[in-house]
Formats: sequence, structure tokens, C-alpha cells
Amino acid sequence: MTDAKQGVQFGSEAPGRDDLTRLAEASVEMIARLQDPTGAYPASPTFSAYRGYCWFRDGAFIADAMSAAGAKDSAERFFDWCGRILVDREAKVVEIVSRARSGSPVPDAEMLATRFTFAGEEGDDEWWDFQLDGFGTWLWAAAEHARRYGTDLARWARAIELSVDYLTSSWQRPCFDWWEENADEVHVSTLCCIAAGLDAVAEAGILDGTRRQQALAATESIRSTIVERGLVDGHLAKWLGSADVDASALAAVAPLGVFPASGRIGSRTLRAIDGGLNVGGGVHRYLADTFFGGGQWPLLSCFLGLGFAAEGDRERAIERLTWAAATADGGGALPEQVGDHLLDPSMNQEWVDRWGPVASPLLWSHAMFVRLAVEVEVLPA
Ligand code: BGC
Repeated sequence: MTDAKQGVQFGSEAPGRDDLTRLAEASVEMIARLQDPTGAYPASPTFSAYRGYCWFRDGAFIADAMSAAGAKDSAERFFDWCGRILVDREAKVVEIVSRARSGSPVPDAEMLATRFTFAGEEGDDEWWDFQLDGFGTWLWAAAEHARRYGTDLARWARAIELSVDYLTSSWQRPCFDWWEENADEVHVSTLCCIAAGLDAVAEAGILDGTRRQQALAATESIRSTIVERGLVDGHLAKWLGSADVDASALAAVAPLGVFPASGRIGSRTLRAIDGGLNVGGGVHRYLADTFFGGGQWPLLSCFLGLGFAAEGDRERAIERLTWAAATADGGGALPEQVGDHLLDPSMNQEWVDRWGPVASPLLWSHAMFVRLAVEVEVLPA
């Protein structure tokens, strides 16, 4: 696909390599500056519906990007924040696990939340809270960080154990997807985040024998479940039994590597999303998306770029990075999405009226930009 001119440009020119490096450096600085003293990464400092909260999902990808960019301490402080949240809820997790294993699982409302205040509370605002993916993604990010720096995962040992028990006992449950939707389905990208986390900590040698076996067995069952029920035309589907595609599946290819770009499923997933959801370089979440009219998400373009990079196609990876850079506003803030190509323009105003303009800056967008910039060596690791 060819790139269309998108969003606010750096001056009148399309972003050059130096602009990409500068934006990546500024993104690392911004994330570091906005990280709360508790270690929490705000999803967005200004957006009405996200202000004051840190997500396990966004935060784990942000920590991975900061880790990859050399901000070791920042990533570790986020893992400390995750660790405190889990250990503070030890009794709750133990109860969830024992109820699940005895065949009388707790209701969705009693499962762990997907986002917490910086102080580590659930907060008073309503949210579509039961989402399992972040508890896998933080495990993956912590193990990846430990591999990168030789950090001892023992610092988060109990929180890792609790996460493993939570996921091995509950991964089959339907829950909200990455986008807070379709709570009755089992989402393929959610399953891949769980499998990535369980596999990473099992391989990292931090788990005792039984737990390690349980983690590996769950990973194996997840993989076979996806292969049997989570594929359409040979690529990852939106949920088990769905015929649709969702760009969140890009994460399963890279950076999570559950279905690597070198394999048939990973490669077909990249082709399906590039062909079906990428319009002029900007990637939509899924075709029926109406959130703010269903625009294009720079963070998803960066995930696609990571997939291309994993295939060895650095040029196309840099094209995705360049597209994402062009969505920055004059102050260098990257938004959650841009509205140059909306799937359902009639729905835009409804969201603006409800929550105000699109979230910007969105730290997850900056993080995926940084992660891809490191991958294509536009930003030194
Ligand atoms: C997205 C989530 C994200 C959250 C915070 C929501 O609109 O659907 O994926 O975690 O914003 O960035």
C-alpha cells in the first residue's frame, strides 16, 4: 500500500530520519516525566476517560519500550507497581484460583480489574474491567526485561506466581477484549498475551516445578485451541469462531512472538491485517469499529512495523514508523487515533460529545513508536 499524507507534519516535509530519532527521544523523556512516583504509567495525562488510571496492558507495552530504549529503572518501577497490586490482592487471587479449580468460578465482577489508580486502587469510575490480557503481557514484559538486563525476577516472585495461577486457572473464560468489547467471546489476542506471559516466565526459571508445568501446559492448550478454533483462512481471527480479523492480533506476531513472523500463521496474520485494515499506512482496529468514527491507530501501525521488522523488511517497518510520526501534533504528542480515514464518520461526534477530543498524548502510542524505533535502529538501544 502507498502512504498518504497524514496528520500534522514536521514542517512541510514528511518526517526524515532525524525527526524520527528526535520524536523517539522526546517520547522516552515524556514517558519518564509522566511516570508517577508509584511506578504507574498514566494512559493519558489529559483524556477525560483515562486520566488518573494506569492499565496493565498499556503499561506492560510501555515498560517494554522503556526497557528496550535503555530506561531500565523506569520499567522496573512499573513492574514494582504491578507487583504491589497483585500482592495486595493475594487473598482475592487465591480465592479466584481455588474457586476456578473447584468448578465454581467467581463472577466476572469479582475478577481482577484491568486498570488501577496510580495508588493501586480500582477507582470509582465505571469501566469494562474484566480483561485477562494485561496479566499475561506484564509477565512477558518483566521476563523480557530480565533477559535483556540480567535482572533477577525474584524481586517480583510472588506477584509472578499469583499471575500464573490466575491465568492458568482462568484463561478459558470469555472476557472483554483489548477494546473493552465483546465480553462473551474468548479473544485470540487475549489468549496470545496470556500464552506469551506464561511461556516467558516458565522459560525464565522463576517458577517452581508444579507451577512451571501448569504454565507450560496452559501455553500448549492455548496454542492448540487457537490452531483448532482461532484461525480463519490460516491467520489469527478476532475471537474463537470468528471470521473477522482484529489488528490486536499483530502483537501475537511481534513483539510477543507467539506466532512468529517466520511461521505460516504469523506471516498470514501480517498479510491479512496489512491487506484488510491498513489504509495508506494507518491501521484500523477492525472493520466494524465506530469508536470516534473508527480511525487509524498509530500504535497499531507500529505493531505492524514490528511485524515487518521481524520478517526482515526494515524498509516497510520504517515506513510504518514514518506514518506514525506524521500523526504527532505540533508539540510532538501522538494521539490514540487519527481521523483522516474514518470507517463510520457518523459516529465521531457522539464520542467527542461523550469524552472530548481523541486522547493525546496517549503514552501507549509513544511507547510503540519507541519500541519500533529501537527495532529499526532509529533510536539506539
Ligand atoms: C482502549 C484500550 C486501552 C485504553 C487506555 C481504550 O480506549 O480500548 O485498549 O487500554 O483505552 O489506553
